[in-house]
Amino acid sequence: MKRVSLTLLLAVPSVLTALGCNGSPNKDQAPAPSAAQPAVAAPAAPPPAAAAPTPAVAPAAPEASPEASKLALDTLMRGHFRQATEAREALIRGDMAAARSAMQWLAEHDETSAIPKELQPFYGAMRASAKRFAQAGTLREAGVVLASTLTKCADCHRTAQRGPKFGTPPLPQGEDGKSHMRRHLWVAQRMWEGLVDGSETTFLEAARVLAAEPWNTEVLAIKGANEAVAQSLDKHVHELSAEAAHATGPEQRADVYGHFVATCATCHRLLGRGPAAVPLPAAEAQPATK
Ligand code: HEC
Ligand code: HEC
Repeated sequence: MKRVSLTLLLAVPSVLTALGCNGSPNKDQAPAPSAAQPAVAAPAAPPPAAAAPTPAVAPAAPEASPEASKLALDTLMRGHFRQATEAREALIRGDMAAARSAMQWLAEHDETSAIPKELQPFYGAMRASAKRFAQAGTLREAGVVLASTLTKCADCHRTAQRGPKFGTPPLPQGEDGKSHMRRHLWVAQRMWEGLVDGSETTFLEAARVLAAEPWNTEVLAIKGANEAVAQSLDKHVHELSAEAAHATGPEQRADVYGHFVATCATCHRLLGRGPAAVPLPAAEAQPATK
């Protein structure tokens, strides 16, 4: 079964492109610009290698086919990337059920055999953190658990001295409500990346972008009784980005990030408006199958 999803996954070029080693992780809803396609097509190796990863590698010799191990690890990391992305996007929408199921995948999907021995404790720590998401009762708790799980991704990437390389898409321009929100999203995505790859600079610089932007709800055309609440929520988002721009250490950054995304979600829930759900590719839509 895993075999099937692996094959499907590899058959989805946009996923591969999205994660190209050349670091152009075109963003989520952006229709992949097809800039970087072939580099990662390496897995087209021998079919037996593709079939090997999980069952064969585990008990066999530790030095078993490096290509197969690398393939298994890369595939797993793409799964991590997709699920942790989905958790972020779902949370921003205020969709706790979708966020929970993505975090559950991170907690329960066990491919320890794909992880080099010396890194396995970091894998355990990341999964244990993701598991705590199930107990999160509020958006804020959920945001903080998500963010601290991301810092566990970074712990491993730092130790391994390997990991994702994120490119930086241009900051969306424009004065209308959608553009305003797309800048919010851009910032939330860059801060997330800074947590995943452990880059303090990425995180702080993204936070500064929003902190520097004047808060303005007029462009959102919010009518009626919710207007004042929405204004204070938008103001709070900007206050939190100012706080984030001074956060020191992964724990503080995770904490403020959690509050930050919870505030996005609170306004979207209040108004019944916000980003639309972007479904995961089919191959990973049922990750529960092991
Ligand atoms: C146990 C260690 C470990 C943990 C935990 C971990 N990673 Fe990784 N990650 C790696 C290693 C090692 C690589 C480099 C793989 C390679 O070069 O083949 C990597 C690479 C990646 C890549 C780049 C893959 C590619 O195709 O270039 C992404 C994206 C990624 N990780 C995301 C994540 C996310 C998101 C999390 C947390 C939810 C996470 N990782 C948790 C060890 C880890
Ligand atoms: C003041 C309330 C409020 C806050 C706070 C808020 N949003 Fe929004 N968001 C909206 C409204 C209203 C829309 C619908 C805008 C439209 O369609 O013109 C929206 C739409 C969006 C969209 C969809 C834009 C599109 O392309 O259609 C995204 C993405 C988004 N928000 C992300 C965020 C993020 C990320 C945050 C937090 C950093 C955030 N929002 C905080 C009210 C808010």
